[in-house]
Amino acid sequence: MTSKSGGERGEERKLVLLLSGPNLDLLGERSPEIYGRETLVEHVAGAAEEADRLQLAVEHHQSNHEGELVELVHGARGRVDAVVINAGALSHYSWSLHDALECFEGPVVELHLSNPLAREPWRHTSVLAPVADGTVAGFGGLGYRLAIWAVAELLGGRAQVPSSETRAGRGVS
Ligand code: DQA
Repeated sequence: MTSKSGGERGEERKLVLLLSGPNLDLLGERSPEIYGRETLVEHVAGAAEEADRLQLAVEHHQSNHEGELVELVHGARGRVDAVVINAGALSHYSWSLHDALECFEGPVVELHLSNPLAREPWRHTSVLAPVADGTVAGFGGLGYRLAIWAVAELLGGRAQVPSSETRAGRGVS
């Protein structure tokens, strides 16, 4: 699933890559008591609407394959300005996605619909958190808008993020 929105009228907009990991294509049907009844398409539309309001463009990709997501992060280097990623279960164990994001030079926001810390213990660890500027979790679909807003603040230099601690090892200041 791929979509692109914003900046069609010829104006230069910063580009946000929104990545969705495994099983998020089933949103709307999958555990609605946890993830709600909105579909991924609806969440992406919310993110695109927020991006438009903030003069950003959004490109979205969903994949159920770890390697494809790694390739998408590689392709973001030097091409997109920021990454928002809901990696689904890969958030909890994908060191290859961690390493790929570590090589991306711009802001990274980790996103979850649910609050993994309030769920099963295996969801309490995020291997992506150390290479993200911050995490938005537990706000359902609103999180997609909040993550775009966070990225806009980071790109605009308005967010005060202790990056030397949150992105240790990346050499990003
Ligand atoms: C999720 C949380 C993950 O633990 C889970 O595996 C998902 C969705 C969320 O958006 O709440 O697939 O990332």
